[in-house]
Amino acid sequence: MEKIKLSWKPDSYISGKFKKKQQPVWGDNKKLSLIKKQLHKLPPLVFSGEIENLRKRLKKIANGEGFLLQGGSCAESFADSTGKNIRDDLKVTLQMSFLINSLGEKQILRVGRIAGQFAKPRSSDFENINGEQIYSYRGDMVNDSAKLKKARTPNPERMLSGYFYSASTLNLLRGFVEGGFASLESVSKWIPKTKSEIRSKIENIQKTLHLLFNLHKIKTNQSDFQYFTSHEALLLDYEEAMIRKSSAVKKNCWYGCSAHLLWIGDRTRESDGAHIELLRGIRNPIGIKVGPNYEIKDLIKTIKTLNKDNEDDKIVLIIRMGVKNIEKLFPPLIKEVKKQKLNVIWISDPMHANTFQLGEHKTRAVDDIKKELTLFFDVCKKNKINPAGVHLEMTGKDVYECVDKKTNKKKLGDNYSTLCDPRLNATQSLVVALHIAKLIKE
Ligand code: PEP
Ligand code: CO
Repeated sequence: MEKIKLSWKPDSYISGKFKKKQQPVWGDNKKLSLIKKQLHKLPPLVFSGEIENLRKRLKKIANGEGFLLQGGSCAESFADSTGKNIRDDLKVTLQMSFLINSLGEKQILRVGRIAGQFAKPRSSDFENINGEQIYSYRGDMVNDSAKLKKARTPNPERMLSGYFYSASTLNLLRGFVEGGFASLESVSKWIPKTKSEIRSKIENIQKTLHLLFNLHKIKTNQSDFQYFTSHEALLLDYEEAMIRKSSAVKKNCWYGCSAHLLWIGDRTRESDGAHIELLRGIRNPIGIKVGPNYEIKDLIKTIKTLNKDNEDDKIVLIIRMGVKNIEKLFPPLIKEVKKQKLNVIWISDPMHANTFQLGEHKTRAVDDIKKELTLFFDVCKKNKINPAGVHLEMTGKDVYECVDKKTNKKKLGDNYSTLCDPRLNATQSLVVALHIAKLIKE
């Protein structure tokens, strides 16, 4: 059993000792405490046994068996939590995983950025709209995205709505997985629409998928159909209220029951921060985003604090350094982690450090995303560590938020609907999946 310092409790992060970054100003504290009590009484969204199962799958990945595919929208929204959208997001994840599985010959561990990805870190607390200062949008669990003062006022009741949207999304996902929707047969039949020049690539993918379906009829086993959830554990009040003690699988252990895997963002991972204190007491596997501005000593401290027993199925380091920085900044981190003999699972987020402005929209180029993945695999190979997975922002919705090439002049217009960062659409996700399969095989 993990040794947790006696002083840890689900609310020990509240102590003034810990810096609380990226939190909303709720205003109404009475209402906040009522909502937290209500949340605490509601059933956990995930069961501790499932979290332990995810750890078992991660243990295999740590041993070189399998590949982690983590993906979904940058920010989910309440309005977009519809059956169709959930189905389409799952479909694209399934298709990607079958492509990587068969072409890359790795079993895929699927973890969605879904059923709880409702809180966002922002670079500024405020936004200026027509001369008026209003709060920045911090995700549907905090405020409404409309550019109006009233809409942007943080409201703790939205955490309750977030819980119920997460529950209904999770319910449908479980239904899809249990009811056969996640089967290879349905996966091989679905072909995404595309208006772009990569139509022929998609047709090849179609042929491949049919081929894979026939192959897989004999190869698939039950664990291929597992699907886990994850989100950024950003909103301290919500995550605290969702922590439960369980004795069902391990005696008297604490679990973050809002999702199977929780990750800490690049802006909230300082070792003396409230997020680290909150998460150090729970058994869930924890992802840590690592951007180009990481400070090596502090990051090592964060890893050690979150994984006191240095277990190999606990920490997923999500490297998001960007095409320009990864070759220079990633190797020193690997060196130090090796020197300290820390067990971590290395995965790549090739999205977050490759964002740029095109006209009035934030975008990313598929070319950059593929390039960062190539560099990630190269650096891993040169430094003899296992490139164990990817973390992507993607959607099954027919959007156009990422451009194919940086030089692409095509305007981002009507099909741009993300509330935060630009996502790969279904076609682009499959192109990236093919690239990943190629890198795994090289
Ligand atoms: C995100 O994953 O949407 C995000 C904000 O990432 P990061 O913490 O890496 O910037
Ligand atoms: Co994002």
